[in-house]
Amino acid sequence: MIGVFDSGVGGLSVWKEIVRELPGVPTLYLADQAHVPYGPRPLEEVRRFAEGITRFLLKQGATVVVLACHTASAAALRYLRSTFPRVPFVGMEPAVKPAVQRTHNGRVGVIATWATFQGELFASLLARFGQDVQVIPHVCPGLVEAVEAGALDTPETEALLRACLEPLLAAGIDELVLGCTHYPFLRPLIDRIVGPGVEIIDPAPAVARQVRRILEGRDANARSAGQPPAPHTFYTTGDPVRLMRALERLVGIRTEVQALHWEGNEIAFPAAPGAYPPLTARE
Ligand code: DGL
Repeated sequence: MIGVFDSGVGGLSVWKEIVRELPGVPTLYLADQAHVPYGPRPLEEVRRFAEGITRFLLKQGATVVVLACHTASAAALRYLRSTFPRVPFVGMEPAVKPAVQRTHNGRVGVIATWATFQGELFASLLARFGQDVQVIPHVCPGLVEAVEAGALDTPETEALLRACLEPLLAAGIDELVLGCTHYPFLRPLIDRIVGPGVEIIDPAPAVARQVRRILEGRDANARSAGQPPAPHTFYTTGDPVRLMRALERLVGIRTEVQALHWEGNEIAFPAAPGAYPPLTARE
């Protein structure tokens, strides 16, 4: 079973690619919507969330854990790999390498959250690939919240995006890396604003292929195309109705969502109705 998590609905852009790549394999998707957005938070805090989520997903039977979130990957990927050495993790990093290989004019823009740019992961990408090419990192406040609210194509979101992309366009980029998994859901708007002269790079398909390679290598139960669709389970630490609506809107599926909550650093199921103290009639 593949465990996938994000701060919210952004990871569904990766989940969708994983399900396309491995249609027969069941998944668990956890949206930590009690804490969305992760982007402005300190890395230590995001690492704590990522560890709690990982423990929960492993308890539910995940055999591989996908950090469908650049921010969580920047904050926690190395830490999780050393804390859970037997578990295969797949993380995300801004796709600077392919952008650097493909640029014609040597100018690459990267949009991501503040936290993603703080991590060592991004620093090492710049050190490795940003020598002969100008890589321009740019934070876009408000976009994650817009996607969470379902405001995918509103005048307000367009204004936010224009403000975010204009400095990059003014700098003459010809490659734009989507360094946050929420952003692919804004593709129609992004495409319209940047126009045909800028190529947009979303790492989700490559991440899904990596998940398939890991599963094929380790899990004899990994099933592949041609088999009946597998069951998928969705969890949120926020409002389940909100995630249900987002699932329909963003990936076109109608399904139930299980509500969870944080208890300290751990994620727990809500107490079963029978476990609440029974209501006693008032005299
Ligand atoms: N979707 C996430 C990412 O890829 C998190 C964004 C956020 O919660 O700020 O970075």
